[in-house]
Amino acid sequence: MEMIKKKSIKELLQITEENLQVELMAWVKTKRQSKNVAFLALNDGSIIHNLQAVVDVNNETDVLLNRIHTGAAVQLQGKLVKSQGKGQANELLVEKLVVLGEADPDKYPLQPKRHSLEFLRENAHLRFRTNLFGAITRVRHAMIFAVHSYFNQNGFYNVHTPILTASDAEGAGEMFQVTTLDLKNPPKEENGNIDYSKDFFGRSANLTVSGQLEAELAAMALSKVYTFGPTFRAENSNTSRHLAEFWMIEPEVAFADINDDMDLAEGLLKYCVQYALDNCSDDLDFLSQRLTNEEKSLPEAQRSQELREKLKTVIDNNFERVTYTEAIHILKNSKPNKKKKFKYVIEEWGADLQSEHERYLVEKHFKKPVILIDYPKEIKSFYMKLNDDNKTVRAMDILFPGIGEIVGGSQREEDLEKLTKRMDEMNIPQKEMSWYLDTRRFGSAPHSGFGLGFERLLLFVTGMGNVRDVIAFPRTPKNCEY
Ligand code: 4AD
Ligand code: MG
Repeated sequence: MEMIKKKSIKELLQITEENLQVELMAWVKTKRQSKNVAFLALNDGSIIHNLQAVVDVNNETDVLLNRIHTGAAVQLQGKLVKSQGKGQANELLVEKLVVLGEADPDKYPLQPKRHSLEFLRENAHLRFRTNLFGAITRVRHAMIFAVHSYFNQNGFYNVHTPILTASDAEGAGEMFQVTTLDLKNPPKEENGNIDYSKDFFGRSANLTVSGQLEAELAAMALSKVYTFGPTFRAENSNTSRHLAEFWMIEPEVAFADINDDMDLAEGLLKYCVQYALDNCSDDLDFLSQRLTNEEKSLPEAQRSQELREKLKTVIDNNFERVTYTEAIHILKNSKPNKKKKFKYVIEEWGADLQSEHERYLVEKHFKKPVILIDYPKEIKSFYMKLNDDNKTVRAMDILFPGIGEIVGGSQREEDLEKLTKRMDEMNIPQKEMSWYLDTRRFGSAPHSGFGLGFERLLLFVTGMGNVRDVIAFPRTPKNCEY
């Protein structure tokens, strides 16, 4: 007997050999049936394209076909032949058909039609099965791979920084507490405060908001490291760019200044975007088409650039490097500011920039990615290196079209005295951070790093509009399903 090879649809569509006997398992996207023949569009997620299966209708197959609807899982054997129809290379002439799992069309929520993104968010357990989320999931995988590949090629070592931590890296206090204490009856100290010495770790603990501080420890020995893990922020931001659980890429480099840091970030972003163009062609076709359809009803001026064109502008342009002070000058004199069109009108130097300002700089003024540097120290974290003006720090934020801030980073303050002074000013307890300060006590060296929000990168690459649609199970205020 001939050996039957079990193959994915991605493999089957690429086979050039004729009349190969094959087996596959997949889900039915659609079924079309006439008197003598039925066509099944099959997908197994290996690629966005479907494989068409052709089934002769007879007494035996008719019974089986009646059990098959959109969403059913099937096992098929048959002969792979060149497709007669246009648009696909191969199709399967079915010789054996097994129904693995039925999907009752009266109950199955996904139908072969366009569902709204809101509906799919409410059915996140099933949305992997749509073309859209298949594409997003594959692009997400490709971007994870690209990130690791970029750092590996550039001599970086990956470190896993802790997810459970006792430190607040950003000093912003937006942390989720982790405890095993009985919340109904917690142990108390004499003064009435909760006695955390009785808690699991013998102290209070949180989910990490950033792996940076631990990555700095590693960089002070391995020179070039990066961490890529989940981060958690308990900020009550209900925006299309914020998640309570998101993934962040954080490189940390010894003997690197702010300019090296910007070069590294720009290189990483360009590499990832190029990787998507080179490796996610089919999915980008689909995502580009989706975006065009989505925006069809908008006036032309409001439509976004075609997805691939937009991706190419990132690769073809040097990111514009501008100081915060210059940016404030541009914004103050901008039309939307003068006409009070901004929700937050820029009045003076020192103002924190909102996403509307960031997007104005990128989309209207410079028309390419922008790196803002030298922010006022008051609006940035304690660990950033103070400039000689004593007013600004060597921070850098990268702003992207349609997104706003995609990267936040800085050169770090390596001077122990300046750092501890800043911590005192910002009420950051030094005692608990003694381990961190040891990097500045022993063999301190200039170093820099940044954080790239992975979901924001995916927003950009996929052309999606909401971070909740580029992570499988989004966590946002009042939403922790699954
Ligand atoms: O600017 P952030 O807060 O910087 C840090 O956490 C530094 N410790 C990074 C470093 O220097 N190692 O966050 C970095 C990036 C942001 O630019 C944004 O892309 C993303 O993380 N980000 C979020 N993404 C989704 N949801 C949120 N709530 C996010 N907060 C930050
Ligand atoms: Mg930031």
